[in-house]
Amino acid sequence: MTNSRGEFSSRFGFLMAASGSAVGLGNIWGFPTNAASNGGAAFLFTYLLLALVLAYPALMAELIIGRHSRSNAVTALQLISVGEKSKLLGFLVGFLGIVTVTFILSFYAVVSGWMFALFIEPIARFFGWISVASWLEFDSTARNIIALVLFMVLTISIINAGVQNGIEKWARRLMPALITILIALSLYVFTLPGALVGLQAYLIPDFTRVASAELLVDAMGQAFFSLSLGVGTMLVYGSYLSKEENLPMIGGLVALLDVGIAVLAGLLILPAMYVALESGVEIFDSQGNLIAGPRLIVSVLPNLFGTMGSVGLFVAFSFFALMTIASLTSSISMLEVPVSYAVEELNFSRSRASVSIGGFVTIMSILIAMNFDWLFDVVVTLTTELSQPLLGLFFCIFVGWIWRRDAILEEIRCGSPNVQNSIFWKIWPFYVKFICPLAILMVYLQ
Ligand code: TRP
Repeated sequence: MTNSRGEFSSRFGFLMAASGSAVGLGNIWGFPTNAASNGGAAFLFTYLLLALVLAYPALMAELIIGRHSRSNAVTALQLISVGEKSKLLGFLVGFLGIVTVTFILSFYAVVSGWMFALFIEPIARFFGWISVASWLEFDSTARNIIALVLFMVLTISIINAGVQNGIEKWARRLMPALITILIALSLYVFTLPGALVGLQAYLIPDFTRVASAELLVDAMGQAFFSLSLGVGTMLVYGSYLSKEENLPMIGGLVALLDVGIAVLAGLLILPAMYVALESGVEIFDSQGNLIAGPRLIVSVLPNLFGTMGSVGLFVAFSFFALMTIASLTSSISMLEVPVSYAVEELNFSRSRASVSIGGFVTIMSILIAMNFDWLFDVVVTLTTELSQPLLGLFFCIFVGWIWRRDAILEEIRCGSPNVQNSIFWKIWPFYVKFICPLAILMVYLQ
């Protein structure tokens, strides 16, 4: 089986794929709005700190387990277990991770579907298909279902094509496009009236909030979701990584790219909101807080683009292209988790696995879209607030307490032979053993 496994063909390919997984709606939507409602730069600093001291070590834990075991999450955790009990725990954690990520994808696809519809909308308008454009713009269950099905078809097709021809090929194309669009859009928004006020709202810290428990919980949840941790996504991508790569460095690059793009997205979204305010668009809710939820992306920003005349069409197109790309490079990384398991453990062919599991996710997403008002939040809370941090905790326990220390060192030494003397090896084992589990536990109990 091991011989038929895929592998990323280059460091760049892995970097694009892994940062593509990390960079998603969580960065471009979640981070800026979290920052805006949590004291601006105070949130930013907290987030940077948590990303560095908590999320990076946890990311490394997954990458190392993955590359060592060269297998899906369930097999990998069993492989590094020692006794019968920890093998069973490995199975449970791996399997729950697969279930969790499958449900994360189910709600993620609904939101990604909106992004996809709003991406097609300016194209339709450009060609003068006004009724199609209005249908795409208007939030209806029919539109949401059709858009999410199309989005899932894209996701399934890429996963069906395999690691190199699907994931890597598309990540290499899409991620540079994403970064270019993001930079170009922020530069453009800076030239508009009101942008500076938004920049201040983002960058001037409200330090009265730094110590608040709520801010810590938000920042940590954000960091975990953003680095795709706890459910085996990074483990599986790590399992396709060559033994020649320097893991601590490449993991650091992924974390930096993820954080960097989140910060950059803040430089786009917050100034854009204040530009919208300047153009008469409502950006505060009835309690005087910045509008942060779905309304920000599907109503505030489109209203802003609407005030921009014909340029607005192009800006809307670019912005929703950005959102669609960010969603797609993340959704493929989610689908790969159950698919790799079905291929390696249940002997499914890749196409059977991607179509059947992707089909299942699509049906779940349709159910969520149809019962959006109550079901969406339930699924989000159960998966990202309950299950994901808990599983993240177990990943750290596996690396910190169950897996043999010399085996870990041996794995990291492939690709970085001198790691034993580096600060990484002086600090990281302690972190995953004590600090990460404790911190996750504390936040979890909140
Ligand atoms: N990190 C992505 C984002 O910020 C989403 C994502 C991809 C994810 N894979 C994941 C989230 C696995 C949780 C678990 O949008």
